[in-house]
This record gives sequence, structure tokens and C-alpha cells, in this order.
Amino acid sequence: MKPLLGTLCLLGMLVHSGLGHHRSPVQQTQKLVDKTVTPWRSLETYSYNKYHRMEEIYQWMSQISEKYPDVVTQRFLGMTYETRPMYYLKISQPSDNTKKIIWMDCGIHAREWIAPAFCQWFVKEILQNYRDNSRIRRLLTYLDFYVLPVLNIDGYIYTWTTDRLWRKSRSSHDDGACFGTDLNRNFNSSWCSIGASKNCLDETFCGAGPVSEPETKAVSSLIESKKEDILCFLTIHSYGQLILTPYGYTKNKSSNHEELIQVGQKAANALKAKHGTNYRVGASADILYALSGSSRDWAKDIGIPFAYTFELRDNGTYQFVLPEDQIQDTCEETMEAVLSIMDDVYAKYWHSNSTRRVTSTTVVLSLLVPFMSLF
Ligand SMILES: *[C@@H]1O[C@H](CO)[C@@H](O)[C@H](O)[C@H]1NC(C)=O
Ligand SMILES: *[C@@H]1O[C@H](CO)[C@@H](O)[C@H](O)[C@H]1NC(C)=O
Ligand SMILES: *[C@@H]1O[C@H](CO)[C@@H](O)[C@H](O)[C@H]1NC(C)=O
Ligand SMILES: *[C@@H]1O[C@H](CO)[C@@H](O)[C@H](O)[C@H]1NC(C)=O
Ligand SMILES: [Zn+2]
Repeated sequence: MKPLLGTLCLLGMLVHSGLGHHRSPVQQTQKLVDKTVTPWRSLETYSYNKYHRMEEIYQWMSQISEKYPDVVTQRFLGMTYETRPMYYLKISQPSDNTKKIIWMDCGIHAREWIAPAFCQWFVKEILQNYRDNSRIRRLLTYLDFYVLPVLNIDGYIYTWTTDRLWRKSRSSHDDGACFGTDLNRNFNSSWCSIGASKNCLDETFCGAGPVSEPETKAVSSLIESKKEDILCFLTIHSYGQLILTPYGYTKNKSSNHEELIQVGQKAANALKAKHGTNYRVGASADILYALSGSSRDWAKDIGIPFAYTFELRDNGTYQFVLPEDQIQDTCEETMEAVLSIMDDVYAKYWHSNSTRRVTSTTVVLSLLVPFMSLF
């Protein structure tokens, strides 16, 4: 798996420089090669309290699936615009039980580095504890976790090499006049109707059409093909300290809105109990802003019962550049929230799924809070 992965990465880099999307491909490649010299040799010394370059995350993914071959498999999802391979980790305890799926992706927005750090933390926690921790063991009895550590790989690399605050993907538009689509405006949910732009220079450029980007297509195809089995769709962002439910594209409420809020609020309480951090819970259009084409709204619309966006720390002090000394506390508290949601999803589905409440559309309170940046 490792040599193959290495070859694919190298191939990706070569093809990528050949296409000349970057300002100075030769320099760029040299820089990437230099940075590939890794400061760690084995999984045991991998630091979960640091941000990692994509090369290191690729290596981490292949090492973790080699170390836990019975529970983790690295699966190919698709190729990015700049032809890098996308992989997700399937965490599944072998058994004859019928399983349901929890999906989690991180790093759809390039600059939100705490998100990929959390996906890696989550995987580490599950793998270190599933044998001895009865809570995690119970979850894994009936649930598989699909984790995509970095969705927007091209953009993530660009934030390491060129522009720390880059948000979008790196696709070329208008004959190279501008770069990048906001992948969280490119899903097929009321595409580009509100809170998104058709101007490719803008931060919220929605792309040439719904699901026009290879990264969006790759995720949509997998989710679509497994939608009957996916109970919960989690997508991790920063910043703002929010747990957001559908919808963003309308103030209408989703069919199980009350239930989503209740489960989300319980998760926020569990999160706060860890380190005292305050989160707010609500529908995106109510407590953040209106936006169309998000993965969360799309997941809800295709029938996945639980769909949440997390906006991790902080609340405006460091914004997207959260210091590394906050990684651990952020991941620990977020872990509590995510486990709380999984416990609830598990309990609702496997024990009381016949009594699932479906609420009617409720009157919407307008609580639009103005934020300074786009998350
Ligand atoms: C988007 O969804 C609609 C149904 O809501 C469907 O008719 C259309 O084909 C989809 N478009 C893409 C590009 O998937
Ligand atoms: C919101 O709900 C109203 C009333 O049911 C419906 O007419 C409208 O199409 C909905 N809007 C969206 C964007 O789904
Ligand atoms: C974040 O900061 C804003 C502005 O200071 C405040 O209104 C909001 O309540 C804070 N949110 C949380 C979850 O602490
Ligand atoms: C409830 O769970 C059972 C498995 O215990 C499953 O067969 C059934 O389809 C579920 N029902 C609903 C409504 O999700
Ligand atoms: Zn974001």
C-alpha cells in the first residue's frame, strides 16, 4: 500500500506541475520535495498536537491502516482537480452484524486547519480505545465510521505553500483568470440560490454548476451510493463555536428539526463539560447565515436523518489560525460532542427507532448573528 501510495503522490505532483497551475511549478515541486523530509518515523511519535502537511497526513493514513489492519482500511475516493488521490478511512470492527454508517469529513475549507487535526485525533482516539472502552466498543458493534481527513487537498497544500488563508479548491476558471471553487457551495442543494457567488474571484464562488468539482463529485457519489445506510453526516469546519443543523438555503425547518436541535444541544453540553467552551446550536440560516450548496443540506435532502456542521474554536481571537497549543483541548472537547451525537444516533436507531419524532415546520425566529468572516 505504501509504495503504491508514494507513487500516486509523486505522480500527482508531476502531473500537477506539468499542468502548471501554480505560479512557479519547478520551485513549487522542489519546495514540496524538501518538505517531504519527515520529522517522524513511526506512528508512535506522530504528534496530534501539531498541524501536519498533506504529505505527512498521507503517510499517517497509510501507517495507521497498516498498524490496525483488522479495523481500518484506506479507501480510494477519487482524484482532486490537481490529480492528487483522495482517501477516506473506513473504521469497522469485523462482525456479522448489520452495520450503519457515520460519515465525517474535515478540511473542505483549506484554511481551517483545526478540522483535519480533529479528524486525525478522532481516528487515533477510536483506535487506541475501542478494545477497552465499552462506550466506543458498543458504538462499533453496529456502526462503521467513514472518515475523510482532508476533503480539499489541493487547497490545503496551497495554504501550506502559498497563502495561509486560502479557502477554496484550486480549479481554474475563466481561462486561468481566477482559481478555486468554494466546495461547500458546490453541492446539489438549491445550488447558488443564496449566500454564494457566480463570480469566480469571490470566496464563495459556487462553481460552474452543481457538483462541477471533482472533489464534490467524489464525495457525493460515495454518499449517494451508501445513503440508505448512513445515519449521520458530520462535516467539520472552523471557526465560531457552533453546531449547525439544516438548513442554510431556507429558513424552513427540516422534518426532524426538533430532534436535531435536541441531540445537538446535548452534544454542546457534553463539549462544555470538558473544558468550559461555549457553543451555540441552531439551524445554519438562523444562527450563522444563509448559504446554498452545502454538503450538510444536501446530505439531509437525500434522506440522511442526522446532519451537522461543526464550527470549532475559536470565537474570533485567532480565527482560522488557531495556535497549536489549543489543538489538544479543542479535539478533546469536540470528541465529547461527537461521541454524544453518536450515542444518541445509535440509541435512536437501534432501540427506539419506531418512536422517532417527526415535527412539523415550526415558526422561525430570526436570530441572524452577523459574523466578520466566512466559515
Ligand atoms: C440535482 O438534484 C436534482 C433533484 O433535486 C436532480 O434533478 C439533478 O439531476 C441533480 N443535479 C446533479 C448535477 O446532480
Ligand atoms: C418552504 O416552505 C414553503 C411552505 O411549505 C414552501 O412553499 C417553500 O417552497 C419552501 N422553501 C424551500 C426553499 O424549500
Ligand atoms: C462569541 O462571541 C460573540 C461576540 O463577542 C458572542 O456574542 C457570542 O455569544 C460568543 N459565542 C460563544 C459561543 O461564546
Ligand atoms: C429500526 O431498526 C431496525 C434494526 O433494529 C431496522 O431493521 C429498521 O429498519 C429500523 N427502522 C427505521 C424506521 O429506521
Ligand atoms: Zn468552513
